[in-house]
Amino acid sequence: MTSQTQNIAKKFVQIAILLGVMGCSSSFLYQSNADFNKEGGNSGKSIHFAANKDYNAECSSCHVGFLPGFLPERSWKKLMAGLEDHFGENASLDQDISSKISKYLVTNAADSAAASPRSKRIAKMIAANETPLRITESPFWVRKHRGIKSYVWKRAAVGPKSKCESCHRDAAKGLFSEYDVKIPK
Ligand code: HEC
Ligand code: HEC
Repeated sequence: MTSQTQNIAKKFVQIAILLGVMGCSSSFLYQSNADFNKEGGNSGKSIHFAANKDYNAECSSCHVGFLPGFLPERSWKKLMAGLEDHFGENASLDQDISSKISKYLVTNAADSAAASPRSKRIAKMIAANETPLRITESPFWVRKHRGIKSYVWKRAAVGPKSKCESCHRDAAKGLFSEYDVKIPK
């Protein structure tokens, strides 16, 4: 090879590497926009994340603060009306805090005007005569997790189905990307 063709070959390799790197990072950026989108916005896959001081204080001490966009308004109303017997726990609140939290949940519910397209699909999948109190019993959740074998749920490090953060490490921030899932052994 002449030194000129060697140079051309070298340039070619450099450009190919550069394009490869650009391709990877742009697909990574695309993914972060589409799936790690905290504000929800235009992503077809996101569930809106709206931080709320009262909700964080009162509803994320025993478990992760579940995103309102996983259940419809009627579910949140029913759940908030029964806090004195909340899955066997007394989680009752003062009236004013309870109304503030209810308002936050209803405003951001899966069937609210503010809901992301994915939340709206989650709400549509629930039969009109059903009012699930558990996200983990909603058709969307069941469908997304049906590939997980029953012995996996029995692992100590996995815990109950409601412990989203065992596998979705950024669940508390409202991030559930399929690229960010790790099932503990
Ligand atoms: C005293 C502890 C405690 C507090 C406070 C609490 N919860 Fe819970 N919550 C529980 C327990 C226990 C469960 C059942 C967990 C399980 O069986 O996996 C549960 C389950 C849930 C579930 C169903 C999870 C699923 O399986 O999909 C929702 C939704 C929920 N809580 C919402 C709330 C909201 C909203 C608040 C605030 C008003 C709240 N929780 C406050 C203890 C608590
Ligand atoms: C045992 C581990 C585990 C637990 C616990 C768990 N998940 Fe998942 N989740 C998964 C896996 C695995 C997938 C499927 C990823 C895929 O599609 O490849 C998934 C998928 C999802 C998806 C769809 C992701 C996407 O981009 O399509 C959402 C949303 C989700 N989970 C929410 C939750 C919520 C909310 C909880 C808690 C109430 C929860 N998960 C608990 C393992 C878990």
